[in-house]
Amino acid sequence: MSRDLSLAEIFQMGYYWETKILLTAVKLDIFSALDGHGDSPAGLARRLSLDERALTLLVNALVAMRVLTKREGLVANTGVARKHLVNTSPDYVGHLLALHDSEWANWGKLEETVRTGVAPVRRHVFENDPAMGANVLAVLDRVGRGSGMSLAKSLRLNGREHMVDVGGGVGTNAIALCRAYPHLKATVFDLPQTLRVTERYVRDAGLEDRIALRPGNFHTDAWGGPYDLALLSDVLHYQNRRANARLVRNAFAHVTGAGRLLIKDRFLDPDRTSPAWTTAFAVHILVNTEQGECFTTGEVMEWMTQAGFESVTEFAPGAMVQGIKPGGGTDGLESGLRRHDKGGGHG
Ligand SMILES: C[S@@+](CC[C@H](N)C(=O)[O-])C[C@H]1O[C@@H](n2cnc3c(N)ncnc32)[C@H](O)[C@@H]1O
Repeated sequence: MSRDLSLAEIFQMGYYWETKILLTAVKLDIFSALDGHGDSPAGLARRLSLDERALTLLVNALVAMRVLTKREGLVANTGVARKHLVNTSPDYVGHLLALHDSEWANWGKLEETVRTGVAPVRRHVFENDPAMGANVLAVLDRVGRGSGMSLAKSLRLNGREHMVDVGGGVGTNAIALCRAYPHLKATVFDLPQTLRVTERYVRDAGLEDRIALRPGNFHTDAWGGPYDLALLSDVLHYQNRRANARLVRNAFAHVTGAGRLLIKDRFLDPDRTSPAWTTAFAVHILVNTEQGECFTTGEVMEWMTQAGFESVTEFAPGAMVQGIKPGGGTDGLESGLRRHDKGGGHG
């Protein structure tokens, strides 16, 4: 059994001041303004049209938090701020922090949401603020660069398939898979506003001839195909159960016999009280989507079975679920899958 929390830990959990100080500094782009040279709070306030007294207090706290330094009245970025918080740096993560800041007001309505069950938003960030959504996807693509590669390794495709990455974002998974399998073809299906950014990623990867972009709404528009593999990665938690069961049925209709559906998401354990990060993420989803939720792999496996998929398994325990559509021959894909099922792991 885990030990009781201490009072200090309870206070720590209830303490969000530093969080909002950092998010506000990112929103005001203070770190970019200090790039290359230190400045006095007065000079910085003048350049950014901010209130000098208020900015001085904010900056002092940022110095104490070790994202800025202050010497002889001049404030400057620390190394980590230069690398991750200056908006021209290739390692900038401010877009993600800015998203958190923009969701602050929704978090403020958590009490009301818990009282009424009604979320404060009608649509999610990718629909409400495509530029922000796309920038966030770009940061996630960079910080999670390894995940597409490990997915590629674990899949063991025969390499000649055509896959669809539904809600594929900037193409993180499609690009990783196409790099791993030189004859694989992919379609990234996503909202038109997201695909505007995806286009650049696919071009930079030199994969325009193998990765097609198909704009549309995955609830209402046809996905093209049929495909040998459909991937839904980090997409389910934006919808409720009914919409997800429909998405899974839609995937069934869009894959060939012996084709498969892979679903990757932030799943809760069966008792829904772990992993800890996901339980908090579920609350984040509660206030930042209209009807989104986090699910268990058991629920997803049930939707797959109901849709007609067979050999429905946890492809990666607690992280990925796979189902195979019955039919088709014992071609490379199917026999590859059978071998894989026997192996029982996910590489
Ligand atoms: C969290 S991102 C996941 C991106 C990618 N699959 C990954 O794993 O990195 C969710 C994606 O779903 C897309 N999306 C959300 N609602 C959609 C809809 N109704 N139709 C098509 N795409 C949608 C968003 O534009 C976004 O790219």
